[in-house]
Amino acid sequence: MTLPAATAERLRGAVLDGLLGTPKRLPSAYLYDSAGSALFESICELPEYYLTRAETEILQRHAPEMARRMGAGALLVEPGCGSGEKACMLLQHLQQPAGFVPIEISTSALEGARRLLRERFPALPVHPLQADFTASFTLPDVAAASRPVFFFPGSTLGNFDPASALGLLRRWRAMGNAALVGVDLRKDPDTLVAAYDDARGVTAAFNLNLLARINREFGADFDPGSFAHEAIWNASESRIEMHLRSRHAQTVRVDGQRLEFRAGETIHTENSYKYTFEGFAELARRAGWRLTGQWTDSGGRFAEYFLEP
Ligand code: AVI
Repeated sequence: MTLPAATAERLRGAVLDGLLGTPKRLPSAYLYDSAGSALFESICELPEYYLTRAETEILQRHAPEMARRMGAGALLVEPGCGSGEKACMLLQHLQQPAGFVPIEISTSALEGARRLLRERFPALPVHPLQADFTASFTLPDVAAASRPVFFFPGSTLGNFDPASALGLLRRWRAMGNAALVGVDLRKDPDTLVAAYDDARGVTAAFNLNLLARINREFGADFDPGSFAHEAIWNASESRIEMHLRSRHAQTVRVDGQRLEFRAGETIHTENSYKYTFEGFAELARRAGWRLTGQWTDSGGRFAEYFLEP
């Protein structure tokens, strides 16, 4: 994973601040080194992790209508595009798209998406943008003469606290003519907890990989076996929280500093907010969008929302 130096430095600062703070926490963006990204791909295949399958079902069934709503000549913009696979499902139905703008912080991911798009849609203009989409960014010049439509699938919005999610939707409202956003629905806690604490332990490995990464990048001496993965449903915040719980009292060295853990103390590593229809509609309204379309999978587990100014 190739990150720009300033981004890598900011992430390093957030890791140290988070571990030295109370309660201890780590930025969830730090989950995605190359091992973490590969583990996340495996999570998407797990029987308990319904999100990816549910969203794929929605896109397969409704992409023609979504593309019709986006209109002819749309410029599809995907912040955090990953492989670019989901955008292909829309692009194949879009009428004379002006192009595709994949946005990624990592050059290697961006290059992968560019290659896939070139292979699938050789005539489509692709304008890769290396940027941290959580900060402000400028769309390429082509956007001025076309209709930018933001595409933000995968419930990635759920990994932001509601204030930050609102900020993202507001900024895209200022730049875009429409948006298609995929977000997981609030549902029974057993289903949610199982999705984030699977029987095969892949999500546990994904969470614990953070410690291996800190050992490597900060010369730390975390013993991953001394921490347990936990997924907790926080009903009042409507979110799944991932934690790493210290199995016993211990001292860990990180970046030349001593970190004390009490037995049972946790590092909070990720939030995954779950929205009701009403909750998401309210968020979109506060960001200045009108919610003009919504689709769910046959199990009613996940939703895709179409937003217009
Ligand atoms: C990337 N993101 C939407 C995933 C989620 O469901 O919050 C990350 C994840 N964490 C644990 N499992 C998957």
